[in-house]
Amino acid sequence: MSEEKKLLRALRGEVMDVPPVWMMRQAGRYLPEYRETRAKAGDFLSLCYNPELAAEVTLQPIRRFGFDAAILFADILLVPQALGADLWFVAGEGPRLSTITTPGELAALKPVEEIHETLAPVYETVRILARELPQETALIGFAGAPWTVATYMIAGRGTPDQGPAHRLKAEDRATFEALLGRITEATIEYLSRQIEAGAEVVKLFDSWAGSLRGDDFRAYALEPTKRIIAELKQRHPGIPVIAFPREAGENYIGFSRATGADCVALDNSVDAEWAARHVQKDGCVQGNLAPGHMVTGGQALIDETRRIRDAFAGGPHIFNLGHGITPDADPENVQLMIDTLREAR
Ligand code: CP3
Repeated sequence: MSEEKKLLRALRGEVMDVPPVWMMRQAGRYLPEYRETRAKAGDFLSLCYNPELAAEVTLQPIRRFGFDAAILFADILLVPQALGADLWFVAGEGPRLSTITTPGELAALKPVEEIHETLAPVYETVRILARELPQETALIGFAGAPWTVATYMIAGRGTPDQGPAHRLKAEDRATFEALLGRITEATIEYLSRQIEAGAEVVKLFDSWAGSLRGDDFRAYALEPTKRIIAELKQRHPGIPVIAFPREAGENYIGFSRATGADCVALDNSVDAEWAARHVQKDGCVQGNLAPGHMVTGGQALIDETRRIRDAFAGGPHIFNLGHGITPDADPENVQLMIDTLREAR
């Protein structure tokens, strides 16, 4: 038996009988122990910046389910906050930020070297986790990809169609590109510190990549991802990277080759058989069970888990959901997914 962690073996291209498994948003409100720790912290952001409690909620799903990977507990919007944007969360609605849409507002952001003052507690969380995780569990660090982070900074909130960011791109491309550039540089420094603190893999969440088309997809989803990966791999040779250009559709094809990513994460709008043929031929893929099954469970959950496992059985695969687990999910369905995946084949 290899001593190396299963997740890292899959990222190197190894094909396994039972793929490694973890879950986007595995530390979250569907777990009573998370809700208890979050209440102790006071609010979500206080939890993100409290290394002991952030490490505790990261460990909770590992203890309960024995996932093959833990993902650092933090948020993609901590980077805008570290750059000087105001950030707060409205209960039941989501994040709010002060907006950056003019050259003046962009110029007022902090220089990239200063982000670590705000983000230092996150690096401490990573150090605690590197010490405390079971030896078979891989530790994933993460950041938002520049386009997705920019959509929140420009609109000041989540938007269904990323309209404000598309408008700035059309009306003041120089400011839009300068903002993306600033986020890209901050992301490199942020992920670099996470790796130095003990993250063994990093993941880039480009949740809104699907709203970029044609040349825009190449310029604002693919290119920034490629730049971040090239710089991280130069500074930290061999560090594996998972890219998640969510809802990229046909643009998933060739994405890992073009960006240097070791694995591309697939959302659940992608057919697994199609992705096995067109995307997995280039290397490891992650995904892509619909998160709704964690709410509804039953035979459909069992059938879908088997179908996705079998579709990707011919190549390297990390089993995951196609997007984050939702607060109304039932923890027993998570256990059912894991048991189904690990059953004798
Ligand atoms: O378990 C994990 O996956 C690690 C932690 C993590 C969080 N957010 C914690 C969180 C990760 C990896 C993220 C990524 C993130 N954050 C993304 C990209 C992935 C995706 O879902 O598309 C985005 C777009 C955000 C921004 C964000 N954070 C939004 C839009 C919201 C509000 C929506 C919601 O689910 O409430 C958050 C809050 C947030 N981030 C929560 C958690 C556990 C819920 C906060 C709470 O406890 O009230």
